[in-house]
Amino acid sequence: MNTCVVGLQWGDEGKGKVVDLLGETADLVVRYGGGANAGHTVVRGRGEKSFALHLLPSGILRKNVLSVIANGVVVDGETLLEEIEGLSQRGIVVGKNLRISGRAHLVMDYHKKQDRLSEEALGAGKLGTTVRGIGPCYADKVTRTTGLRVEDLLDLGGLYERLKQIVDLKNRYFAAIYGDKEPLEADEIFSKCRRWAEVLGPMITDTTALLHRCWQEGKRILFEGAQGTLLDLDHGTFPYVTSSNSSGAGLSAGAGVPAKAVDCFLGVAKAYSTRVGSGPFPTEQDNETGRYIRDKGHEYGTTTGRPRRCGWFDMVSVGYSIKIGGIDELALQHLDTLSGLKELKVCRGYRYDGKKLDFFPAERRILEQVECAYETLEGFEEDISRVKDFAALPEAARKYVLRLEELLGIPITMVGVGPSREQMLLRRP
Ligand code: GDP
Ligand code: IMO
Ligand code: MG
Repeated sequence: MNTCVVGLQWGDEGKGKVVDLLGETADLVVRYGGGANAGHTVVRGRGEKSFALHLLPSGILRKNVLSVIANGVVVDGETLLEEIEGLSQRGIVVGKNLRISGRAHLVMDYHKKQDRLSEEALGAGKLGTTVRGIGPCYADKVTRTTGLRVEDLLDLGGLYERLKQIVDLKNRYFAAIYGDKEPLEADEIFSKCRRWAEVLGPMITDTTALLHRCWQEGKRILFEGAQGTLLDLDHGTFPYVTSSNSSGAGLSAGAGVPAKAVDCFLGVAKAYSTRVGSGPFPTEQDNETGRYIRDKGHEYGTTTGRPRRCGWFDMVSVGYSIKIGGIDELALQHLDTLSGLKELKVCRGYRYDGKKLDFFPAERRILEQVECAYETLEGFEEDISRVKDFAALPEAARKYVLRLEELLGIPITMVGVGPSREQMLLRRP
């Protein structure tokens, strides 16, 4: 049984928690897209200190799991080495249990610099990126001539020659376009690459071949999506998106296996909506309700610490994400965060220019102006973070979940009532 975990909103739906939980019965956990813009939180036991993973698959915390960083990921060697070091200080050894695709692209210092310069130049019109160099790195991959891959770490002589040319080009570009006066040094960047090669070199593998072998042998593979469907480069709220196909559509290109290798596409969504960074957000509550959700749900970015924008659950956008990804089942997180709100609202439809829309709109201009039609449900007061069984939830909380399930048309098989592993109610409707 192979499963692919996919975010259905604008990221941070709690994918890390779901992957950690399902990791118990997985042989491999595979990241197939995004880079260190991701921040996946894993809380193993109630009240325990959390792990924040950016590049390492969340399976890395489990002893018998092989973790794979597949070709679709953009690898920042600096962050990866820091993460490996951080885990080793907490007693978790990363070595033979990690494989990295030689086809994955490398995020370099000049990508991060370009991300920062571009955002600064855009001023109020910025995208609100994580400034992790993600967009510029994927852009170089598409450009081809300026892209560097993980496999290049295996030929340091060749890498040095290419790096000199690319850094020179980038310096000239930054000076001409942004008036930058602090050129980067190719030698300095190269010395970092040497360190990455030492540590990561033995982990470089043809992960496509590995995954096909494991699939054939019947090993249980868990694919860990990063970001969310509404941040997908093609299908999300462009241009306020990330630079990869972060919906389920990214799986095949990002891991080199066909979608039919997956038996279950498991979507993850919060019981409300959040978004970090700029861009349209129809159900946003920039008011007391939004602040209540942010405080109660600790809605601050795992990667950048930025406060997340909060709002009501949006049936239109999540329904769209389910269609795009062929989602079979849903894990609904953060139900506990809604306790204390008198009423719960769910957006059932969008209206634009006096007309009802029957699909999530592609045009930014329209999405920025839609009016939401809400259905109001009864809220609940009780603290549900210790509830162990779906049937033991207060009636209004149960009704809320059942109504979402009815409207979305797919089973909600997991309900999150807190950040830790055991705060997940499992159900088979
Ligand atoms: P990811 O990027 O999708 O893995 O999600 P993040 O880790 O960035 O953000 C999710 C946040 O919500 C983390 O702080 C989790 O520990 C926390 N979380 C996950 N599920 C629940 C839940 O059901 N209830 C509460 N209160 N917190 C949760
Ligand atoms: P996880 O995997 C939430 C957002 C950024 C910004 C936009 C573009 O933790 O769910 P980028 O740095 O990718 O160029 O930024 O995408 N973004 C995320 N938001 N969770 C994430 O990952 C995100 N990764 C990128 O905030 O709006
Ligand atoms: Mg996150």
